[in-house]
Amino acid sequence: MYAAHTFIRGNKTEKIQKALSHLRQGFFHEHNNIQQDTDMNYLVDKDGYYGEFGGAYVPEILHRCVDELQKNYLQVLESDSFRQEFAQLLRDYVGRPSPLYLAQRLSRKYGCKIYLKREDLNHTGAHKINNTIGQILLARRMGKRRIIAETGAGQHGVATATVCALMNMECVVYMGKTDVERQHINVEKMRMLGATVVPVTSGNMTLKDATNEAIRDWCCHPADTYYIIGSTVGPHPYPDMVARLQSVISEEIRKQLQEQEGRPNPDYLIACVGGGSNAAGTIYHYVNDERVQIVLAEAGGKGVETGQTAATIALGKMGIIHGSRTYVIQNEDGQIEEPYSISAGLDYPGIGPMHANLAQRKRALVLSVNDDEAIRAAYELTRLEGIIPALESAHALGALEKLQFRPDDVVVLTVSGRGDKDIETYLNFPQEELTNQ
Ligand SMILES: Cc1ncc(COP(=O)(O)O)c(C=O)c1O
Repeated sequence: MYAAHTFIRGNKTEKIQKALSHLRQGFFHEHNNIQQDTDMNYLVDKDGYYGEFGGAYVPEILHRCVDELQKNYLQVLESDSFRQEFAQLLRDYVGRPSPLYLAQRLSRKYGCKIYLKREDLNHTGAHKINNTIGQILLARRMGKRRIIAETGAGQHGVATATVCALMNMECVVYMGKTDVERQHINVEKMRMLGATVVPVTSGNMTLKDATNEAIRDWCCHPADTYYIIGSTVGPHPYPDMVARLQSVISEEIRKQLQEQEGRPNPDYLIACVGGGSNAAGTIYHYVNDERVQIVLAEAGGKGVETGQTAATIALGKMGIIHGSRTYVIQNEDGQIEEPYSISAGLDYPGIGPMHANLAQRKRALVLSVNDDEAIRAAYELTRLEGIIPALESAHALGALEKLQFRPDDVVVLTVSGRGDKDIETYLNFPQEELTNQ
């Protein structure tokens, strides 16, 4: 048995010591054909750790599943047949590469050059599909027939239901009841795609609770079920696997910037973080290039100091959530606090271990963007550029006004999804507050 929100809270010291000793010995890690000294490597080590974050804390019943994944994922992801199938589906089905668009009017407003990485233009409307395609190809190669997933904003649920329809696989999606209500268009899409959507009524009925329920399902069906986690969270190898599958974003940014700016690296990369997958994809190929300033926008909710927030990096303490050692918003007894954000996809009390490490080592600047700041930023993008962003992406846009740019700075900001699912929330925002800026 495991506690409601956590897996095993066992003794982690040994693994952490091992990870640290690798660091001290200048352990070399081979990654995407680049030999990197882990002293300057912000990617995962061979034990599944990012510094002191990560690992795999799973109940006994899942050990075999997680172990099987750990042993197979790299071999499959790096095989020619997987690479070919993945690349073809990303091109012909998702519509990649997604454009890198120079937003002229937004640039003028902030006094620099702002490019938008348009993940909102992908099939199903967000970056989530990159990951679900990769993981369903892996699940098929592992002989699994039944797929489960958790979802917050519904974008990962829709992306999972979509690839299950494509591959003719059974699909069950867990979604907090609060999110079922606030993102109902995505619920209808999942149902139309043939998925079973299970509303979860525990906790405050949001993403954390949906993830707990998905893990419970996995514990009951370890043999035939593959769990497609939607973000860079969960036990190793999920954070690394999801980051690799999303790394197509930064691979494309490098090429597109080279073509448009004559150099592959921007001065700033900006992305929102829920669990961290669109941010991980955006920064993956730049993470060890210290010339690039990484800015992560987390959900401040009603304000970090109000207690109604999902700003995990600002407020979290070390803990274990959903199989990973990372920052968690918790009380003094280690009980997870209910998070709050207007954005269902950022309403999570944990954070991917990769991002926790980047924040701890000050490789990334982490900003909290409150609900109202995000909504104003969404309206600003809509009216300056004619692009309605997802509420999650609006948090990345809300970071712009908190930064000081020089005129020749090149900024790449990932628009992780489109705002169709959020129109009601946008329209319910008091219009007079938009003009009081
Ligand atoms: C459009 C969009 N952006 C961002 C996120 C946050 O997830 P992540 O941090 O994994 O990118 C979500 C989650 O549902 C989303 O739907």
